[in-house]
Amino acid sequence: MAPAIKHRSSTKNLPLLLIPFICLFSVVRPSCAADPTPTPWPHQFHSILFMNYSSSLQLIDLWYDWPNGRNFNIIQDQLGNKILYDLEWTNGTSFFYTLPESSPAEECRTAHVGVGILRPNWLDGAHYQGQRHVDGFLCNVWDKADFITYYEDVVTKRPVHWVFYTGRAAHVMTFEVGATLEDAKWQAPVYCFGKSEVGIEAEAANAVHIGAAEENSTVGLRRGSMRLDI
Ligand SMILES: *[C@@H]1O[C@H](CO)[C@@H](O)[C@H](O)[C@H]1NC(C)=O
Ligand SMILES: *[C@@H]1O[C@H](CO)[C@@H](O)[C@H](O)[C@H]1NC(C)=O
Ligand SMILES: *[C@@H]1O[C@H](CO)[C@@H](O)[C@H](O)[C@H]1NC(C)=O
Repeated sequence: MAPAIKHRSSTKNLPLLLIPFICLFSVVRPSCAADPTPTPWPHQFHSILFMNYSSSLQLIDLWYDWPNGRNFNIIQDQLGNKILYDLEWTNGTSFFYTLPESSPAEECRTAHVGVGILRPNWLDGAHYQGQRHVDGFLCNVWDKADFITYYEDVVTKRPVHWVFYTGRAAHVMTFEVGATLEDAKWQAPVYCFGKSEVGIEAEAANAVHIGAAEENSTVGLRRGSMRLDI
């Protein structure tokens, strides 16, 4: 009787003893309770992102505005004169358009993607990959759902860099917590509305197409929310 009890208590303690060794020495790193977790996104911020996708470079003005349920990516190709506005509402509607300042053609696509914008805690559950230097900053690194690798400054906890599974990479150039874009700028132009009476089904098909196109070229954050279902 006594040996059996002893045996049980020692197997119970074994995993606890092993955890630090697994965390430190395993090549394929499992998650550990003590691992750092990504800092949730501030509810409102403005960020200038330098994007690199197969050496095509872009500048993105990102305005994240969770309380108002909206997210804006204002995109300019390197030396491009056309600015693309990607305005995402948390009711699932997205507008992709240009404005007359940079393009005389009245271009607008509307998509109903069926999910909202990224939540501030969208990185919850990401798998810790350890620390790496990127862009000259020492970062904690996480992978989320084979979709994105995310780098956060160890000291300031600000995002520094992320890479989508497609290879599309963002370098965070500015990160202004609490910055907001004035309401008037969030208004999609009139030619986004009532141009054609496209049915919901057709719009949904279009959204799938846009999702695929996004995966290849444009923004990808919304795409992330679609794939991760968050
Ligand atoms: C862009 O990424 C490619 C790898 O995909 C790299 O070779 C190139 O140096 C990067 N360009 C810049 C300006 O960072
Ligand atoms: C979602 O919200 C935007 C902004 O208020 C609006 O233009 C759009 O029509 C809404 N979409 C739906 C499906 O209600
Ligand atoms: C995305 O790229 C792949 C190849 O890289 C191509 O086969 C596919 O048609 C592209 N999709 C879109 C929507 O451009």
